[in-house]
Amino acid sequence: MGNFKVKDHYFEKAKKDNYVARSVYKLEEIDQQYKILKPGNLVVDFGYFPGSWIQYTSKVIGDTGRVVGIDIQEVNKKLTGIPNVRVYQKDIFNISNLSELDVKDQFDVVLSDMAPNTTGMQTLDQIRSLNLVESVFGLLPKFLRPGGNFVIKVFDSQDAQNYLKEQKKLFNEFNYLKPKSTRSVSKEFFVIGKHFKA
Ligand SMILES: C[S@@+](CC[C@H](N)C(=O)[O-])C[C@H]1O[C@@H](n2cnc3c(N)ncnc32)[C@H](O)[C@@H]1O
Repeated sequence: MGNFKVKDHYFEKAKKDNYVARSVYKLEEIDQQYKILKPGNLVVDFGYFPGSWIQYTSKVIGDTGRVVGIDIQEVNKKLTGIPNVRVYQKDIFNISNLSELDVKDQFDVVLSDMAPNTTGMQTLDQIRSLNLVESVFGLLPKFLRPGGNFVIKVFDSQDAQNYLKEQKKLFNEFNYLKPKSTRSVSKEFFVIGKHFKA
């Protein structure tokens, strides 16, 4: 987790494929399995930095789509030249209107690979992680159009499981996936919601 770079198979593969992070293979697996992204989609990526999910999404949505990345970190200049990409340095919880992102409509797809700063204290990290997940679910009515798709990273805990069970009803389909490229020791998994019932 965090910025700790393990130079494993996926790290080397990402370098070879010109992706800025190995996490791209998590989104790739999710998308291949659950068909989240389509050509022409308007997509928002919460906590996009450094931007491998943006690179992947940009390819799948094509010329008629657009992907908007938001991160508190300084804008990654490697992404600013890609025609269907817009990146912003903002806190996602400080966006009061979608016009701040130069879009008129709600998004077809919301992606979130965000994680809180971890302390190494497991219970504290789990609480912070769940708080973040709850806050992101709270943003969906503003950002995600009815019928849209959602992907979010979650750190496992009993409380997280209980919370997620309650959110199931927000989507027609609700699935969990631990991608192959996620290290086996990691407690992270992804929640994939399809067809948002606003
Ligand atoms: C694991 S990284 C994302 C990696 C990315 N998916 C990729 O493939 O390159 C998580 C990011 O979430 C960002 N983040 C955390 N809280 C945020 C917030 N409230 N608003 C915007 N970005 C946030 C962090 O700055 C960090 O860059």
